[in-house]
Amino acid sequence: MKPMNVGLLGIGTVGGGTYTVLKRNAEEISRRAGRPINITMVADRNLDLAKQVTGGACRITDDAFAVVNDPEVDIVVELIGGYGVAKELVLKALQNGKHVVTANKALLAVHGTEIFTVAQQKGVMVAFEAAVAGGIPIIKAVREGLAANRIEWIAGIINGTTNFILSEMRDKGLSFDTVLKEAQRLGYAEADPTFDIEGVDAAHKITILSALAFGIPVQFDKAHVEGISRLDATDIKYAEQLGYRIKLLGITKRTAEGVELRVHPTLIPAKRLIANVEGAMNAVLVQADAVGATLYYGKGAGAEPTASAVIADLVDVTRMHTADPQNRVPHLAFQPNRLADLKILPMDEVQTSYYLRMRVQDKPGVLADITRILADEQISIDAVIQKEPGEGEEQADLIMLTHQTREKRINSAIAKIENLNVTSGKVTRIRLEELGK
Ligand code: HSE
Repeated sequence: MKPMNVGLLGIGTVGGGTYTVLKRNAEEISRRAGRPINITMVADRNLDLAKQVTGGACRITDDAFAVVNDPEVDIVVELIGGYGVAKELVLKALQNGKHVVTANKALLAVHGTEIFTVAQQKGVMVAFEAAVAGGIPIIKAVREGLAANRIEWIAGIINGTTNFILSEMRDKGLSFDTVLKEAQRLGYAEADPTFDIEGVDAAHKITILSALAFGIPVQFDKAHVEGISRLDATDIKYAEQLGYRIKLLGITKRTAEGVELRVHPTLIPAKRLIANVEGAMNAVLVQADAVGATLYYGKGAGAEPTASAVIADLVDVTRMHTADPQNRVPHLAFQPNRLADLKILPMDEVQTSYYLRMRVQDKPGVLADITRILADEQISIDAVIQKEPGEGEEQADLIMLTHQTREKRINSAIAKIENLNVTSGKVTRIRLEELGK
């Protein structure tokens, strides 16, 4: 059968991995796909690199538009990233009737609706397994494997950089800044780590998972995004003493009032499997009504793990290439004309539990003042510990865990607690999820 011709946009880490794995496993891949899948054209600004990786075995150009406009190319693999030229290239490829495989979570989380609409109009596929959690086949699992279920929530460690930093902070008792520098030196964190450490990358990914889980449009602009850069090693230590680990989680949950879509540092019970995902590894926990909880674990980045997802998409597209577009798996798991208009809840309305840490004077009545404020907001306390004041200090750390409450209630309580004469400084607030049923 005629081979599928692939045009690769970008032959950096993931592009190089894709080239290598596709070549190394060509025989097995073709047995699976039903025909050979060949990279016939590569675009990269670094022509020398492209020549070196491909050994000159395919056409090379520094003009990515030459690839998306090439009549011989059946599938375009976009590995450029970002919302800029990548968007133009993807749209152009679709308009030219080519299928697109992309690892670009930012592009899909922000412009997914437009991109999927063009793809539908043109009867072509956009595949994006590599966009979420790298090598873990989580898109496939949520979109196909769990198709019988009503998905209730998803919670994921979907950014390896921040998980590496949090693991190191906990392991070695080091500050965020120290570990970030170390992570940059080791190549775990980018020179400009903003998207990773501020939670934006995780928010792109949970936005995509949310759309797949609940059959809603991608709505990155409505996600609550909070990273780990202000996290104090003290809280990691106290959390551990209380039986919790702190992870940067992407969370999306269906509630009676709407869909929660949020990324923030989260205390989770240390006994949960997902709490023990360390270093740069990723894991996604999905709670669904029929199957219960399922957990997916693996490498969320890197050349060959991400190539594994890209090539799985190439195989899928190759198999479905000749199928009637109506009979393919819909981009967002649900038929495009059956997407739901569920509201994304503002963060103020989200309900979760909280870890609070505050500096208090060590004298009678202080705890009573604080618990009165919480009671007035109808916030129930789960646990309290007060640390001994340090040598010569009059103030002590007070740590509280609350039961579930609404975010706006805890914010109001915190403002009142900070106004008390017996507390000083800001109250540290970290959300807590039990991740049970
Ligand atoms: N920067 C991401 C991470 C990998 O740290 O997990 C690519 O999505």
